[in-house]
Amino acid sequence: MIDLFSLKDKVIIITGATGLLGSQHATVVAEAGGIPVLLDLDQSRCDQLSNELKQKFDVEAVGYKVDITKEEEIIENISLVRKKFKHIHGLINNAANNPKVEDSTEKAFSRLENFPVSVWNMDIAVGLTGSFLCAKHYGYLISQNPEGGSILNISSDLGLIAPDQRLYRKVGLSEDLQPVKPVTYSVVKAGLIGLTRYLATYWADKNVRCNAICPGGVENNQNPEFLKEVKSRIPLGRMAKKDEYKGLVLFLLSDSASYLNGSIVSADGGRTVW
Ligand SMILES: NC(=O)c1ccc[n+]([C@@H]2O[C@H](COP(=O)([O-])OP(=O)(O)OC[C@H]3O[C@@H](n4cnc5c(N)ncnc54)[C@H](O)[C@@H]3O)[C@@H](O)[C@H]2O)c1
Repeated sequence: MIDLFSLKDKVIIITGATGLLGSQHATVVAEAGGIPVLLDLDQSRCDQLSNELKQKFDVEAVGYKVDITKEEEIIENISLVRKKFKHIHGLINNAANNPKVEDSTEKAFSRLENFPVSVWNMDIAVGLTGSFLCAKHYGYLISQNPEGGSILNISSDLGLIAPDQRLYRKVGLSEDLQPVKPVTYSVVKAGLIGLTRYLATYWADKNVRCNAICPGGVENNQNPEFLKEVKSRIPLGRMAKKDEYKGLVLFLLSDSASYLNGSIVSADGGRTVW
C-alpha cells in the first residue's frame, strides 16, 4: 500500500518553489523519492533549496530562475528540463503574489475603490496567466508521458468563500482607509478552480489528472489580534502549520490518488464549513 505514495524518480515541476509553502511541496516530493524541479524568481534561493534537498534526501533536485509570467522563459526552461530528464510527471501551480494585508502598513491601496489596475494585472499575471502558461507547456509535456501524470493547482479557502474583511480592520482608521484582502486574491483563487476543471477533462484520455487544494491560512508570525480573530472562525480553532499540507500534496501527486480528477479539496480546519 505504501508504494502507492511513492514518487520515486518522478519529475515534478513546482512554481514559487522557494516560498513558504512551495518549499514544503518541494520537500515532500524529495522525501517521497521524486525529483523536484524548483522554479522561482531568485536563482540563489533555488540553488540553496535544491542543494539542501539533494543532501537531505539523496535525490536529484534542480532549481531554475523562471518568471512564469513570461512565456519565453518557460519555453527556454522546457528545453533545459527536457535535456536533463526524459519525462515530466507532475506540475504544482503554486506561485502567487501574496500581499499580507493583515500586517500591511500601506492601508488604502488594497481597497476596491483604490485598487490600481497595475496591481490587478500583476496579480492576475502570476496567479492565473502563469498557471495557464505552465499548464500549456509543462502540462503538455506531462500529456506526452506514456503514464500521464498529475497537475495540482494551489487555490485557497478564499477560492471557495469571500474574505471576511472584518479580520483586517485596524482600530482608529476611518472606513476609507481600512485595509482589505485584495479583490485579485478571490479572483485568482476562484479562477484556478475553473482551470482545474478544464484541465481535468482536457488530457484525461492521456491519464493526466488535475486537482486543486484550497488551503486555509498558515500561522506565520501574524499579529496576535488577527490570529485571535481568524482562529475564532475556524472549527479546529487554529491556523495551519506550514508542513500540514505535505500529506495532501503527496497524495494528490501520487498513484494513491489515481482516481481523483477534477477534485477541489478544502484543507482549512473546517473554516469553509462554518
Ligand atoms: N500561506 C498561506 O497561508 C496560504 C493559504 C492558502 C493558499 N496559499 C497559496 O499557496 C501558495 C504559496 O503561498 P506561500 O504562502 O508559500 O507564498 P510565498 O509568497 O511565500 O511564495 C510565493 C512564491 O512565488 C514566487 N513567485 C512570485 N511571482 C513569481 C513569478 N512570476 N514566477 C515565479 N515565481 C514567482 C515568489 O518568489 C515566492 O517564492 C500561493 O498560491 C498562495 O496563494 C497560501
